[in-house]
Amino acid sequence: MKILGIETSCDETAAAVIEDGRHIVSNVVATQVEMHARYGGIVPEIASRQHMRTLIPVVESALEDAGMELPQLDGVAVTHGPGLAGALLVGVNTAKGLALSHDLPFIGVNHLEGHVYAAWLEDGLDPETRPGFPLMCLITSGGHTDLILMEGHGHYTLIGRTRDDAAGEAFDKAARVLGLGFPGGPEIQRVAERAAGTEPALPRPRVRSSLDFSFSGLKTATMRRAELKGMYPPPEDAELDPADVAEVALAFQEAIVDSMVRRTLEAVAKHRVNGILLGGGVAANSHLRAEMARRSPVEVIVPRPALCTDNGAMIGAAAYFTLRNGDAYSWDLDVIPSLRLG
Ligand SMILES: Nc1ncnc2c1ncn2[C@@H]1O[C@H](COP(=O)(O)OP(=O)(O)OP(=O)(O)O)[C@@H](O)[C@H]1O
Ligand SMILES: [Mg+2]
Repeated sequence: MKILGIETSCDETAAAVIEDGRHIVSNVVATQVEMHARYGGIVPEIASRQHMRTLIPVVESALEDAGMELPQLDGVAVTHGPGLAGALLVGVNTAKGLALSHDLPFIGVNHLEGHVYAAWLEDGLDPETRPGFPLMCLITSGGHTDLILMEGHGHYTLIGRTRDDAAGEAFDKAARVLGLGFPGGPEIQRVAERAAGTEPALPRPRVRSSLDFSFSGLKTATMRRAELKGMYPPPEDAELDPADVAEVALAFQEAIVDSMVRRTLEAVAKHRVNGILLGGGVAANSHLRAEMARRSPVEVIVPRPALCTDNGAMIGAAAYFTLRNGDAYSWDLDVIPSLRLG
């Protein structure tokens, strides 16, 4: 079964053809990141307008790479939430038009469920056995940091979430304090690699008696540390010392990763799962991937970095399992900007 997956919830215009939920036939991602970088964040109007310009060419190149035409597909899937309303509308209406005009099934996908299914797009990984249900999913991205217990396809329970900033948002804000570019996650990771590790540790944020996360205190602590070192606000007459930037970036990355790993392992112990699944843009972080694998008592699966950030492949993958369960979507499906999972 071949499904076209479309993703336009934020600043990536993406389309992919996925076979049987686990094999990538084609996968095209057109990022808008440079258009938003100069504003230091995503501008919703720019995002929607750019999706309108690029979505059809992106779909065409996904079909061309797959050597297929629309009538040969078994369904058209699209993210209908969560995300930016205007951006989601472009994807949903385009997908409806494509499906309707070729009499194909139309499937609405929860973007967060897409981040989950990205993990099984890696060769040889079968959701039934690797690691097998129940699973603890940590979906950590620009808009979410959720711990989700997955007991089977379509069976999710939200057991922890951030009380304030998402982890990706914290990476982006810390990067701004350190004078690094947007998006901040990859920048922090890059400069932290050069650090010697001489900076005293930053506090590990914790929410007592709960599996929730909180990152705003860490953000403030990072800002204080930068102030103390004369790095923030940025001095007018001098460049920041790259060695100082690297040290604070490393201290931030270690604190945020440690707090995500600890919480996830507490959830694993409490719910006795067979494995951990990581997804979302922050799961691209090499330190998070390595620490989770090193400290976990159970198998950890995580998509390759390019499948952690937004893409259409994960939408086509999640849609296969929805369609296989017999869940149909009606033509009046609407966008849900604040859609949750579990
Ligand atoms: N290597 C990395 N280390 C840490 N963070 C990273 C890395 N790569 C990307 N990120 C972060 O991931 C976030 C983007 O992730 P993603 O594309 O999944 O988010 P989103 O789609 O904006 O949000 P959501 O999925 O919650 O709707 C950004 O905040 C970015 O800084
Ligand atoms: Mg995302």
